[in-house]
Amino acid sequence: MLSDIVDVLADPIDLSPLRGADDFARLVSETGHSYDVARQGYVTLAGGRGLNHEGDSADMVTARELFLSQGHFAPFVETVTERVADAVEKSHAAEPVVLEVGAGTGYYLSHTLDSIAGSRGVGIDISTPAAKLLSKAHPRIGAVVADVWEGLPLRDGTVDALTVVFAPRNPAEFARVLSDNGEAIILVADTGHLDELRAPLGILGVEEGKLERLLQTAAGHLEMIGEPELIEFPIRLDRDSIAAQVGMSPSARHLDPAQLRANVAELPDYLDVTGRARLVRFTKAS
Ligand SMILES: C[S@@+](CC[C@H](N)C(=O)[O-])C[C@H]1O[C@@H](n2cnc3c(N)ncnc32)[C@H](O)[C@@H]1O
Repeated sequence: MLSDIVDVLADPIDLSPLRGADDFARLVSETGHSYDVARQGYVTLAGGRGLNHEGDSADMVTARELFLSQGHFAPFVETVTERVADAVEKSHAAEPVVLEVGAGTGYYLSHTLDSIAGSRGVGIDISTPAAKLLSKAHPRIGAVVADVWEGLPLRDGTVDALTVVFAPRNPAEFARVLSDNGEAIILVADTGHLDELRAPLGILGVEEGKLERLLQTAAGHLEMIGEPELIEFPIRLDRDSIAAQVGMSPSARHLDPAQLRANVAELPDYLDVTGRARLVRFTKAS
């Protein structure tokens, strides 16, 4: 709930502290700005320019919820949780703050909070349909709609572990909000991820050089710990899961739904595909 994490939130306009008002119907800042809490429990913290795009649509969020609930990405969620638990242990915080940027439905953040006693989660996403699920995903999540490219509505140095799973990054802001011992744990899809779906369905593959671009943009803000860790595993998908996977991916924006249904209908009952990503850990640059 927002009341659990309001002490780390900040006014998106000037980063002054926020507090709950009117029994948490609003958050108000020390400088007098007011942000309504939606009936569903999330708050939109956008600065003067507002939100300039929407993120995942309601259909994409529904597809994501369905796909992830089937456990196909279990090795990803388990590894992220283990790395966050390690980071939080080092921070020695009694009630560690875990921030997930581009948190989607809250699948990863909920799993992580379940594994770390006393932890509190801030889930940020630009998508309102995602925030609706995020705010209900776990009792210790506070859900915030914000644009990570515009900045993070969080106070300096308040985050013990920050995660990003297949979502946008803003390394300068990550460095600002991380505590001195805090870690950013970033999962980046690797070339070859779900590649077996590409040809039969006519969908986009993972572009080359994603990891290299992350390391370039992080330079000067974040320092990598160790080497990127490869997470690679086989997944058996039936046709419904394949349709859900495509529906939650960027390809959903480009494909005609009728054409996609026709392509999926022609697939065999099951396809064996490869999940493949790199996990990178960072601290603040010194
Ligand atoms: C590929 S999804 C990943 C969601 C979640 N991490 C997961 O793996 O289930 C990317 C997410 O980032 C969100 N997103 C896209 N642009 C964003 C932005 N500028 N600021 C915050 N979130 C954004 C989308 O709405 C979407 O929920």
